[in-house]
Amino acid sequence: MTTLILFSTRDGQTREIAASIASGLKEHGIDAELQNLHRVETLAWEQYDRVVIGASIRYGHFHPALTDFVKKHVVELNARPGAFFSVNLVARKPEKRTPQTNSYTRKFLLASPWQPDLSAVFAGALRYPRYRWFDRFMIRLIMKMTGGETDTSKEVVYTDWNQVADFAREVARLTRSGTIN
Ligand SMILES: Cc1cc2nc3c(=O)[nH]c(=O)nc-3n(C[C@H](O)[C@H](O)[C@H](O)COP(=O)(O)O)c2cc1C
Repeated sequence: MTTLILFSTRDGQTREIAASIASGLKEHGIDAELQNLHRVETLAWEQYDRVVIGASIRYGHFHPALTDFVKKHVVELNARPGAFFSVNLVARKPEKRTPQTNSYTRKFLLASPWQPDLSAVFAGALRYPRYRWFDRFMIRLIMKMTGGETDTSKEVVYTDWNQVADFAREVARLTRSGTIN
């Protein structure tokens, strides 16, 4: 059996985190398959005994494909142990890095018909040189208002890879009943 890891990304950081979780699971002897949630069409659910979904935030929102996917596959999702992680820059502040204190994640979980057994929030990446001018301008403004990096020549990865490895270990311990053993 395999763990299905779906990611919703715009600039690639959520895919990198998903790939790191897949490597972590493999270290624990668990097969994992990565799929882009925006491209997935049909899924052979019977092959998967666990599911992980990760999604990033842009201008305050997850991509609508996330909620569409959850609505469409809610039965299959709730039928197996599951984990969710969100990726955003608010989470660069440790006090905003839990599902309860990160408002994007809290709101998603409150409204979601899928109730994952585990959730996590990871800090994302700030990559000014790769953004279009408007996005660069807007992100810099937000960073200025929230005391973050404003040097637009910089690329900063805030993701705590040890936190990602810990999450992968917890996902590996999820059992069919959804509890950790
Ligand atoms: C145009 C744009 C808008 C963003 N809006 C937010 C936001 O509203 N809140 C936040 O915490 N992070 C925001 N971010 C930060 C992203 O969530 C962060 O860069 C993350 O690593 C992106 O993940 P991805 O590469 O998987 O899409 C924004 C980033 C960009 C480029």
